[in-house]
Amino acid sequence: METKQFTANQIDQAADLIRHGELIAFPTETVYGLGANALDEKAVKQVYKVKGRPSDNPLIVHVSDFEMVKQYVKDFPEQTKALVDSFWPGPLTLIFDIQPNTFSAAVTGGLNTVAFRMPNNQKTLDLIKTAGVPLVGPSANTSGKPSPTTAQHVYHDLHGKIAGILDDGPTQIGVESTVLDLTAKNGVPVILRPGAITKESLEQVIGNVCVDQHLISEKEAPKAPGMKYKHYSPDVPVWIIEGDQQVFKRAIEWAKSKNQRIGLYADDQITSIFLNDVGAVYSFGEDSVEQGTKSLFAGLRSLDEQNIEVIFAQAFPESGLGIAYMNRLKKAANQKIIKIDSIFE
Ligand code: TXA
Ligand code: MG
Repeated sequence: METKQFTANQIDQAADLIRHGELIAFPTETVYGLGANALDEKAVKQVYKVKGRPSDNPLIVHVSDFEMVKQYVKDFPEQTKALVDSFWPGPLTLIFDIQPNTFSAAVTGGLNTVAFRMPNNQKTLDLIKTAGVPLVGPSANTSGKPSPTTAQHVYHDLHGKIAGILDDGPTQIGVESTVLDLTAKNGVPVILRPGAITKESLEQVIGNVCVDQHLISEKEAPKAPGMKYKHYSPDVPVWIIEGDQQVFKRAIEWAKSKNQRIGLYADDQITSIFLNDVGAVYSFGEDSVEQGTKSLFAGLRSLDEQNIEVIFAQAFPESGLGIAYMNRLKKAANQKIIKIDSIFE
């Protein structure tokens, strides 16, 4: 199958393909999604197939407005309106109790809940509106690869397997949406996956929110089925470097003493200092967690394709967006962190 690149004025064509059961990758503010008609079980199953994704891992249903959600949900918790008013369209996924006999088990992984999100990307909102159906949209990567943040990443992983890609340039945020479960018996919403909408910003709107213990303890006791699946881990080991220039220096000396070619993911300053000491660098620009997050997956993809044996990636403090950044990076690094003096004693 030829994978076609669609532009903004070809949304009608792309929507038509969706209605006919085809798969179209779409841009969002977080990462690119792999779109299919959520009401077409065969198309949804094809999504799992082309991604190579375990089929008990539920999908997020993407809508173009809140109206679209209503017929699929049993009843809305009291926090819903405030959340939707404050954060949609945007990087917040909400989990509700499902109205029985709506979506197939292929969408929900057999759960009696369902996840919804209204992405903040006008082309994709137009695509959903034109198609007239909600779209499932897991990240449009091969399972086990970093989520795609450009149409080129999608093409790299899925060309020949999907009908098309709606291109809207690089995504703004760079990590997947915050997933908030609104179905807890005690009424307190639970963050199942950290993202750009932080616990603090949620609490300003709806009061007490808790974080799934698994995110803190890092234990393998998943509440969301998706959590038991390893996200991205590249062939070469990734180490997180926590600390200043001195820590980078010692980590680089350590790897060089073992004759390892290093790939470095860090800000402009760090990458320029060590440019000649490592095999490859990927700079995310100025030293800000927003920049680091935006380029994380592109950086790891790029370094992974070069001839290196270890990746060193810059840490950020675990607050605000830094929680989501470190969550993804720790998964890629299998929790391996180099702090000052931690491995050099
Ligand atoms: O930013 C995003 O959310 C991107 C873009 C494309 O919208 N999408 C995305 O989808 O990251 P995906 O399928 O890669 O991640 C969906 C996450 C998984 O961790 C899954 O387990 C969880 O949402 N999830 C979906 N439905 C759920 C449910 N009913 N209960 C608990 N977790 C659920
Ligand atoms: Mg994903």
